[in-house]
Amino acid sequence: MVRDNQIPDRILYYLATPPVMYELVPTALKQNHMNRATTAGGWRRIVVEKPFGTSLETAQKLNCRLTAIFHEDEIYRIDHYLGKETVQNILVLRFSNGIFEPLWGRHYIDSVEINVSESIGIEERGKYYDKSGAMRDMIQNHLMQLMGFVAMESPAVFDPEPIRDEIVKVFRAVRPYADEEIDKYVVRGQYEGYQEEKDVTPGSTTETFVVMKFYIDNWRWSRVPFFLSTGKKLPEKNSEVIIHFKATPHLLFAGQCSGGSCNKLVIRIQPDEGISLKFGLKIPGAGFRVKQISMDFRYDSITKDSLPDAYERLLLDAMLGDSTLYSRSDALEASWKFIDPVLAWWKKKGDKGLYYYPPGQDGPVEKIRLIAIPEACPCE
Ligand code: BG6
Repeated sequence: MVRDNQIPDRILYYLATPPVMYELVPTALKQNHMNRATTAGGWRRIVVEKPFGTSLETAQKLNCRLTAIFHEDEIYRIDHYLGKETVQNILVLRFSNGIFEPLWGRHYIDSVEINVSESIGIEERGKYYDKSGAMRDMIQNHLMQLMGFVAMESPAVFDPEPIRDEIVKVFRAVRPYADEEIDKYVVRGQYEGYQEEKDVTPGSTTETFVVMKFYIDNWRWSRVPFFLSTGKKLPEKNSEVIIHFKATPHLLFAGQCSGGSCNKLVIRIQPDEGISLKFGLKIPGAGFRVKQISMDFRYDSITKDSLPDAYERLLLDAMLGDSTLYSRSDALEASWKFIDPVLAWWKKKGDKGLYYYPPGQDGPVEKIRLIAIPEACPCE
């Protein structure tokens, strides 16, 4: 349907604004009758940036307000990690190949690691970041979504709702922490000098680093630890998913790897986008000595074009009405439900249990007690 001025009656609103505007703008749109199309076949959609709420309660409130103005299928909650080609490829890698499925679960996987490291600090975003911290800024959304793609079951069809249904099931199966477990399973840190950053409250206990270990209580993932970690001012920018497969039950060869580091699938989200599978092979010549090698795929080997920017893909999808790569309200609420008790616990503890780390180093040393550090591989 085309209006008098020949412009189709289709408007996508994109709220790349401070979160405080997420209620004000839609309310103003409604007051001015701009939330409904005026012709049949027209549409209005709204894209809302993260953070979507700061807790379960605020996320639910925001959902209520938005759904009073727009229908659920007109609301697009953006998470730019889902717009990354390498993240979408996790689904294709898993569900277009039969060979991984039998290995993908408790029988063959030792642990799953998802790391998003950044070398930058908080830049000029002190006002926002000091209230948010790494847990709300990265874990609750980007890392949880990545975990959803790694852990979900195959949908029956590749359509938005079945895919999002599977993600919600994973989030709901994540085992919640009891208060007394939080210090054992979650380590938080702050880089030295953070408190002198612009717009940061002196004495702030906001975390700039988090690593957490948890379990997903379902048949596929029973007893397989998941590790999520993220931090600012770390040595380098690097995002990756590492699937650590179980070791062989018995060692036969000299130099053979013996721990979870032997066979792993590394999905490099960025930079140096690609996938590597690590396994042991015989070193040519006499005897049977083993060397760990890596079979590598690099994105630049299939296309010389630079990968599309995450936002290009996501905004195009919203224009096309495809919400597959957008977060649904129930998934967001399930992730807040898991995260909220940790944030409440930290609030109660203040700076007790907050570890400081020097910028440019690998985060607080206390993470070592948590992170799956597989037995060093002598031959890698
Ligand atoms: C944003 C966070 O959502 O993601 C930032 O607010 C973070 O703090 C950024 O730096 C990381 O995105 P990317 O695509 O550079 O990994």
